[in-house]
Amino acid sequence: MNDNISVLISQEEVEARIQEMADVISEEYKDKGVHLICILKGSVFFMCELAKRLTCPTTMDFICTSSYGDGTQSSGIVKFSKDLDESIEGKHCIVVEDILDSGRTLHYVIGMLEGRKPASMKVITLLDKPERRVVPVELDMTGFVVPDKFVVGYGLDYAQKYRNLPYIGVIE
Ligand code: IMP
Ligand code: MG
Repeated sequence: MNDNISVLISQEEVEARIQEMADVISEEYKDKGVHLICILKGSVFFMCELAKRLTCPTTMDFICTSSYGDGTQSSGIVKFSKDLDESIEGKHCIVVEDILDSGRTLHYVIGMLEGRKPASMKVITLLDKPERRVVPVELDMTGFVVPDKFVVGYGLDYAQKYRNLPYIGVIE
């Protein structure tokens, strides 16, 4: 734990924004219900904090992808190591991702899931780093736009460390 980490977005700010996002989703899905699809591992904190605040009928499932090696540069290859447990056919889905960076992960995941005939599919992220985009991805909602810096915390890791920080930090 020798890296110097400064706070970019505090725990209070992150949680206030997640509450706002949950309120929008609760209202929109109050009749039809929502099926959350969490992209492991980074999105799990965002997913839990969001799901706890939803008042609409909610189910959830998980897939696991990774595109980063142990450094701060994307390998460019999306590895897919766990599929969903259940069919999404006919369900109103929201893909929940921690951060949109190059766009490769979400582009790949969205393409794969769209072929499985969900009733609808939206995509939300906690963070968006637009300066780094290589593949275009349309988001339905994001928590915060962040600068082109490597961020950690709230599920985001650096070589698997710091996922448990309760705020979004930057490694100096
Ligand atoms: P993309 O495929 O380049 O959009 O990258 C998406 C994945 O890379 C995210 O789900 C994160 O797990 C990881 N990632 C991208 N930027 C960061 C960062 O600043 N910190 C930690 N992980 C990141
Ligand atoms: Mg991720």
